[in-house]
Amino acid sequence: MDQFIKGLPKAELHLHIEGTLEPELLFELAERNKVSLPYKSIAEAHKAYQFQDLQSFLDVYYAASNVLLTEQDFFDLTWAYLEKANQQNVRHVEIFFDPQTHTERGVSFDAVITGISRALQEAEKTYNMTTGLILCFLRNLTAESAEQTLQQAIPYLHLIQGVGLDSAEVGNPPSKFVSVFDKARDLGLLTVAHAGEEGPPEYIWEALDLLKVSRIDHGVRCLEDDRLVERLKTDQTPLTVCPLSNIKLHVFDNMEEHPLKRMLEKGLCATINSDDPAYFGGYMNENYLEVAQSLNLNQEHLIQLAKNAFTASFLPLSQKEKLMRELDEYVSNSEPLQNLYKIELRNKTIGRFIKAI
Ligand code: ADE
Ligand code: ZN
Repeated sequence: MDQFIKGLPKAELHLHIEGTLEPELLFELAERNKVSLPYKSIAEAHKAYQFQDLQSFLDVYYAASNVLLTEQDFFDLTWAYLEKANQQNVRHVEIFFDPQTHTERGVSFDAVITGISRALQEAEKTYNMTTGLILCFLRNLTAESAEQTLQQAIPYLHLIQGVGLDSAEVGNPPSKFVSVFDKARDLGLLTVAHAGEEGPPEYIWEALDLLKVSRIDHGVRCLEDDRLVERLKTDQTPLTVCPLSNIKLHVFDNMEEHPLKRMLEKGLCATINSDDPAYFGGYMNENYLEVAQSLNLNQEHLIQLAKNAFTASFLPLSQKEKLMRELDEYVSNSEPLQNLYKIELRNKTIGRFIKAI
């Protein structure tokens, strides 16, 4: 299972670049930029990454972002993530960034987007992967602030595929952002939104009907509303699910209770993603492996999840088909998982026998 997941060609569609800031790089950038940190050591930072809910995580995540000041910092952050993604055979990524987190501190929009985009372009050449960039508005801030951010993005539209909506969900419904999403779509941008992570199913309805999103980020609370499930299934609206995130933020008590398998079995277009991997204990492979083990997923489920992500991506059809062919080739060249189990079992038995003699 482990080997099969590692080699599986994957796409990641829900990844906050600020959420990939590992404590090691956090300390390096703090020193480079002479920014003081609330932690004495890398180990202390790791220990502090225990959260009760989304807000308690966001407090830590925004505080850490203070070390990001220059174009080079944004390049280094993004490059570190892309190196890991490539090692995990992530063949396509669509990255979220939160410009307001930085522009509110006096960092220029240009430094943020240029640093991130330079790393994306470098990865396309070096790793032969494909990439996209999605600008997220912080929903806890005002709609006017989102509009100003969209204005700042206009000179850089060639670098951006779409806009999204993130940060503290409850009390900040999608309906607050109808006007800025209308403007973004008029500019030719696609739209996505976090909805139904902590917020109710009504927020998913609003994201679909008012913001006209192409995908729902998280969306795990859709299962509370049968009519909504039917709508998401009929339209095959992709849901970018983040299993380790949901456990770390106590959306579900443990991975055995995670609804991902039920979502697949209801015919929903669910995908696996890492959200904020530096904080939630794993990147793509760790997310795949944890759910596969806890929910007893089989090879067909894993293949379906990988396919769903290629289908749900903002790539042109020809590129999606190319990735699908790569996936088909990988599957037809790999051992069926039942056989892998047998080999593993046989190796364990031989190991025990050798130990015994
Ligand atoms: N920003 C970063 N991670 C987030 C999440 N899981 N939900 C909402 N906003 C976020
Ligand atoms: Zn997210």
